[in-house]
Amino acid sequence: MKRSIFLIFSILLMLSVLLTACKTEKVTTINGIKLYGELKITGIEFKDNTESEYVVPGQKVIITTEVEYTDEEGKKASTVSKDVSIKIDSEAPIKLDGSEFIVDATAISGQKITITVSVEEKSKIFEYIVLKSPDKTIGADGIITDYGDIDAIVNKERSLPKDYVPSDLVKLTVPTVLANPEINQLRKVAADSLSALFETAKIQGVTLKARSGYRSYSTQNALYNGNVSTKGQEYASKYSAEAGKSEHQTGLAIDITSSSAGDELTVDFGETKEGLWVKENAYTYGFIIRYPEGKEDVVGYAYEPWHLRYVGYELAKEIFDSGLTVEEFFALK
Ligand code: DAL
Ligand code: ZN
Repeated sequence: MKRSIFLIFSILLMLSVLLTACKTEKVTTINGIKLYGELKITGIEFKDNTESEYVVPGQKVIITTEVEYTDEEGKKASTVSKDVSIKIDSEAPIKLDGSEFIVDATAISGQKITITVSVEEKSKIFEYIVLKSPDKTIGADGIITDYGDIDAIVNKERSLPKDYVPSDLVKLTVPTVLANPEINQLRKVAADSLSALFETAKIQGVTLKARSGYRSYSTQNALYNGNVSTKGQEYASKYSAEAGKSEHQTGLAIDITSSSAGDELTVDFGETKEGLWVKENAYTYGFIIRYPEGKEDVVGYAYEPWHLRYVGYELAKEIFDSGLTVEEFFALK
């Protein structure tokens, strides 16, 4: 009897020694640190290499996930985990490689990129907004290089090439005021959005008319010079752009009015039912009021409640929500 108790005791002792040996045999080296036994994840930190929510086309964004492990003795070590799951929801074209991505050069300002990174039960949502870097799209001569883009910035300091004519101008289908066929055109994307804007307005009892859309370099030249000679230099530079510096040459700008404003382009239009409706709703179809009230020093022109600029829905919404002008939004002023 005594012998068998001794035997059982010995076997149990051996088993426990063996188990302890097995346990301490499991060693995991993390970042040069030896951890023993079963490891527990005691911390997860998601980071990216950007310092802002804005990303520029061509930028590489690296998201890292640092996982902290703790062993049975309470010792800790951290490492960058590759074992993460990534979910993308992006309006902008991007190239994803693991948890790094490059914003495609064709991405447009205002597009959103949402990346959800998960490890174990923990996840983090990274949200970015594409924003062009205006200093990368202008030459030493002050002529912009992205003149064909819907987010191209044209102003007194940023000119279009003299010979630039958009290749996709179409005739407007909305009611117009003037007979000149040239100015009753816009680029297709803007013309379609304008039709949708006018339709929605109409349904809501607001009747709008288009007055002046695309203007060639030479038309703008004649207009500006005409303004200088009839109204003087000061007036002309307040209300009219020099040739090459007008958004109208992009085929993305349109002056609109209403019968209530006598079909004219006057500041009063901004206070009509139609003008007030446009102020609140134009962005939903990708248009912004480019020269808002009280911003002459920033945008370079007096208040023009009639001048709409198409920039695409995403950017128009961002700009509208920010309450900023284009120059302020792109940090040009
Ligand atoms: N009225 C605007 C500034 C233009 O001429 O383009
Ligand atoms: Zn205009």
